[in-house]
Amino acid sequence: MQNKNKSVIIGGILVLLFAVVFIGCTRDTQVTHEAADRVYIAPGNYDEFYAFMSGGFSGQVSVYGLPSGRLFKEIPVFSVKPEDGYGFELETKDLLKTSFGHLPWDDTHHPALSLTNGVPDGRWLFINSNNTPRIARICLQTFKTMEIIEIPNSAGGHAAPYPTMNTEYLVSATRFSVPIPQADVPISTYKENFAGTLSFIRVNEEGNMDLDFQIVVPGYNYDLAGAGNGPSHGWVFFTSYNTEEAHTLLEVKASQFDKDFIAAVNWKRAQECIAQGQGEMKASEYYHNIRSSETFMTTSTRKTSTTSLDPGKCPGVMYFLPTPKSPHGVDVDPSGEYIVAGGKLATVIPVHSFSRMLDAIENEAFEDHVNGIPVLKYDATIAGEVRDPGLGPLHTEFDGRGYAYTSAYISSEVVKWELGTWQVVDRIPTYYSLGHIMVPGGNSMQPYGRYLVAMNKSSKDRYLPVGPKLPQGGQLIDISGDRMRLLLDFPLIGEPHYAQALPAEKLQPNAKRLYDLSQNRHPHAIRDVTDSRVVRDGNTVHVYMAAVRSHFAPDNIEGIHVGDEVYFHVTNIEEEWDIGHGFAIKGDINPNILLMPGETKSIVWKPQRPGIYPFYCTDFCSALHQEMQGYIRVSERGANVPLKYGTGERMVTAR
Ligand code: CUA
Repeated sequence: MQNKNKSVIIGGILVLLFAVVFIGCTRDTQVTHEAADRVYIAPGNYDEFYAFMSGGFSGQVSVYGLPSGRLFKEIPVFSVKPEDGYGFELETKDLLKTSFGHLPWDDTHHPALSLTNGVPDGRWLFINSNNTPRIARICLQTFKTMEIIEIPNSAGGHAAPYPTMNTEYLVSATRFSVPIPQADVPISTYKENFAGTLSFIRVNEEGNMDLDFQIVVPGYNYDLAGAGNGPSHGWVFFTSYNTEEAHTLLEVKASQFDKDFIAAVNWKRAQECIAQGQGEMKASEYYHNIRSSETFMTTSTRKTSTTSLDPGKCPGVMYFLPTPKSPHGVDVDPSGEYIVAGGKLATVIPVHSFSRMLDAIENEAFEDHVNGIPVLKYDATIAGEVRDPGLGPLHTEFDGRGYAYTSAYISSEVVKWELGTWQVVDRIPTYYSLGHIMVPGGNSMQPYGRYLVAMNKSSKDRYLPVGPKLPQGGQLIDISGDRMRLLLDFPLIGEPHYAQALPAEKLQPNAKRLYDLSQNRHPHAIRDVTDSRVVRDGNTVHVYMAAVRSHFAPDNIEGIHVGDEVYFHVTNIEEEWDIGHGFAIKGDINPNILLMPGETKSIVWKPQRPGIYPFYCTDFCSALHQEMQGYIRVSERGANVPLKYGTGERMVTAR
């Protein structure tokens, strides 16, 4: 009797469980199939968008496809990369040169596509480094870093490198205020001695950067920036926090005031003041490094002065807009009228109106002045406040259909709201601790508006665990309909602080396939295996080497001595797409170099012990890749072994 009851009960529970699991499964499966259809790119097909994500403390930029979330490439920028020799080989080493010497690492934050008429034009991607302030330019034909400029009188190049509407300028504002010029002073003299700078870096038609001027500003922390467009073209907006000017325990002391400031800068006015002689030349040391696409070599120039502008001496150049509270993002909508702030500690999202700001300036609706900079009245510039924006609103992007999307860090969600009515219309949770978001084109005048990528600081429990440090979590959200829909989770490299994306059709046709060997102007290039040779000059040996399927020329070298400095100048003389060769030698403290067709790279080796040293091709290039190798004989210092080299049977004595 008891047993019968038991089995009835157990049977009932099983039926119930089955029903729950089955119904649950059916619903989940439907959602998953629908989402999967949206992100699935069939083998051999292409993604719709290229997405570029900063790597944060990796120092690099990673390239993903959207909507698939597939990782294509990691572009080395501020960190060396043994994968291809970046920062080790002679051609790119000087890109990392600074006034502090060769720096092998930095912290990338905000990628920025070059703009023409406020729309990404697919020419270049710029990105800042936060630790030792610099801006890099990546060529979007080769996906290689071609230029890095150091920003002097700055510390924490965080509010960078946001471009103006036609990439006339990139900006870089200091996160940490410091004495300007640098000085050995007590930290407790912060309020007297510390200041910030807003730097304006000009970009010419070739993409080359040049520090035009710096505005010296009060000693706050400058966080992010956004350039005006359309009617607000000519202005750039910077958020600041720590207007309390604290120098210790900022988590408490920099959260005292109800409002901090957005700094609104009229850069056309700054140009006028400088043309009228208001700028002051100041001694400053910084490096500007440019890599040639013809010689592959980097030229480093040490610069020694900057033009500095005191905003108090240039009326009309700068205004402060009071903004609650410790704001992070400052984002201008596609119409150029609305300036949206993300106040980390604010209970609303404040939206300033550009036209109201101009009226307030005209009517001198000032509540105060700081260092001669007028502070506008909050009520005079505000267009509206978005209520219930989530906890910890950070950063806003736009879809071009009248809606804005704001990330909220503490409540881990994206909040969708309407421009003009300021009403929240939708919200979706993200997993977890959302930082920035990115809509392709969503910070430009032409948002593509179909997808939103959430860059989450934590991915706890979303993936198989890989030890204590988990990947940060990318999430793709469909924003094409009224309601947002989560489509995909994909893990990210490093810490993507921000991203940019543009339609594949804008880049794909321009992607470079190979370097034209006949245009190779590298000083140590060779064009044919018959040009390969070894030359001694004292203790320096130059090896001019060809790499071609499937051998190196020369592949036997004798007469290298301990104490020699051996330069390998390797040219890949292939002329076919995607046939790369690598070159690595046993015991070298440098990593391998990777050579694409038509490219020359150089690496220096200092052999430490006598013996036979193999070298080989590290990139699987052909069926006989494993045969692509050679030997170097190293003799004791002073040994009587003549320098010889060869490919095949015949060894040639070096001249
Ligand atoms: Cu060349 Cu492998």
